[in-house]
Amino acid sequence: MNAASQFAPVITADRDALTKDFPLRPFAIRHMLSGHPLLTLPRIAQLAAELPRDLIEYNSGAAQISQDPDKVKSVDLDPVEVVKRIETAGAWMVLKRIEKSPEYRAIVEDTLLSVARARGFSSLEDAGFSQIEGFLFVSSPNSTTPFHMDAEDNFFVQIHGEKFFRIYDNQDGGIADAAQVEYSTTRHRNVKYDESFRPRAVEFHMFDGDGCYVPYQWPHWVRTAGSYSISMAITWKTPEVKRLNDLHVVNAMLRSLKLPQAAPGLHPAWDGVKLAAFRATRGIVEPLRSSQTMRRVLRRIALGKNANYYLKKA
Ligand SMILES: [Fe+2]
Repeated sequence: MNAASQFAPVITADRDALTKDFPLRPFAIRHMLSGHPLLTLPRIAQLAAELPRDLIEYNSGAAQISQDPDKVKSVDLDPVEVVKRIETAGAWMVLKRIEKSPEYRAIVEDTLLSVARARGFSSLEDAGFSQIEGFLFVSSPNSTTPFHMDAEDNFFVQIHGEKFFRIYDNQDGGIADAAQVEYSTTRHRNVKYDESFRPRAVEFHMFDGDGCYVPYQWPHWVRTAGSYSISMAITWKTPEVKRLNDLHVVNAMLRSLKLPQAAPGLHPAWDGVKLAAFRATRGIVEPLRSSQTMRRVLRRIALGKNANYYLKKA
């Protein structure tokens, strides 16, 4: 194998996993992204310098699995320094929406296209991969990503370092009920952890070249081992996921006006009315989101005074 072919935007998985488990259950994947020039610390430091500040979130890696978001310890370094000193900074960082950069968008989309093709589709659209977004994680040795859930489907790829990744089955609401799912979607992703959840877990022990599929809203927590870590989440939202997410946002806004709402699906006709009204309003507001200041104001209006928690000064 020559140097140019050592990495490629390709994910592979067991055929049964791609046909039977996807998109409902977690499974292991392999990839060929480790060593890609865009996924090295110097290039990620450059990306951290270029990204708008509100697309970078970082804090101490010394977090609890069950972490109160209001008690997260900060790191007294600027984002570029965090990346450059990640081996010793004791930090956890995520760079959000990296697909806004054309180079990163290409790697995210090309990698997902490899999955679309393995599933028998010729394009991302045909495979149902829409609203594709990428997130890069850099973390110091022995860092913990607290128990949380994400409002999207995700192929998580481990680029560098050793990582333990545990994903929990919440399909019966036994870990997080409908109210908690709404809260995690709209306010803060963290979920309280209890050891009694352990039998529901699927564990992945990852090194460079490993990864896993994380289904929509399956809670998980992650810990790095003795080396620094670089990982990437390749995410997308199907029309059904977008619908559920929008309903959670509407319900949270109405709840804040003292109008508690049933979970999505319990009253389909009323869901449809709320969704139509919300999407019409969003169409008016959306152009304002190109400004970082306006994004901050809109988050504050929609989600309350703690919505910009990750922008507080270190
Ligand atoms: Fe996550």
